[in-house]
Amino acid sequence: MSNGPIGVFDSGYGGLTVLKEIAAKLPQYDYIYLGDNARAPYGTRSFDTVYQYTLQSVQWFFSQGCQLVILACNTASAKALRTIQQNDLANTPLGDGGRRVLGVIRPTSEVIGNFSKTKTVGVLGTTGTIQSQSYLIEIEKFFPGCRVFQEACPMWVPLVENNEHNSKGADYFIEKHINNLLTQSGEIDTILLACTHYPLLMEKIQQFVPGGCAVISQGKIVADSLAVYLQRHPEMETQCSKGGQRQFYTTDSAEDFDSKAAIFYGAPVKSTHLAL
Ligand code: DGL
Repeated sequence: MSNGPIGVFDSGYGGLTVLKEIAAKLPQYDYIYLGDNARAPYGTRSFDTVYQYTLQSVQWFFSQGCQLVILACNTASAKALRTIQQNDLANTPLGDGGRRVLGVIRPTSEVIGNFSKTKTVGVLGTTGTIQSQSYLIEIEKFFPGCRVFQEACPMWVPLVENNEHNSKGADYFIEKHINNLLTQSGEIDTILLACTHYPLLMEKIQQFVPGGCAVISQGKIVADSLAVYLQRHPEMETQCSKGGQRQFYTTDSAEDFDSKAAIFYGAPVKSTHLAL
């Protein structure tokens, strides 16, 4: 089995907020990022569509030599990961050689209860992530009895993707969904940004969240979890190539991608167009 880069996938730009933290924590590995910008947003798409798009992307990562792929997208993790793990990796040649696909919902659910004193957590995500109830199910496994309240924010990804997240129009949608969440329970003291695009809205979100309520994004959580995973799985760790290289691909225009990606990644990005 040959070595390969770690694949990091998102429907668009959001996963760059995760890659940024992963690459900071584990700089020695090679990474390939793929943003499926041409077909984003995934948040309002059906289960089957998100599954088909994500599977196609995973197949591409494997064709590039990746042995490990991180779905740095909550929507893809919620709607496609289980089927890919239990069907495609377990029962088809896609899983040959022990290739693995991991998501962001489980590692986040494993720790989110630790942030909350009242054991009452609010989850903000895309319609797909919220409707899947994945966070309700996963958090209950790790923090039984922890109360979880959810709110779908269907406008937030389009605002970020269109670079409108600092506009007055954005304030309206941010305040509306924060209020919808917080009126569900006065006990919420921890809000999880369960969408990898939302860290871009952090400043605005903080304006509408009362003091004493923590707003948590996932990048560092996922990076810490990946570090532990690689320690516990030396058979996978040895298959991750170590050259410190980063490659970026987008299914839409590379020029457009590069002009926006730096906001998410925190450094200039030079991408290549990929026709999937
Ligand atoms: N960034 C993705 C997530 O974490 C969603 C973006 C989209 O709707 O495509 O859910």
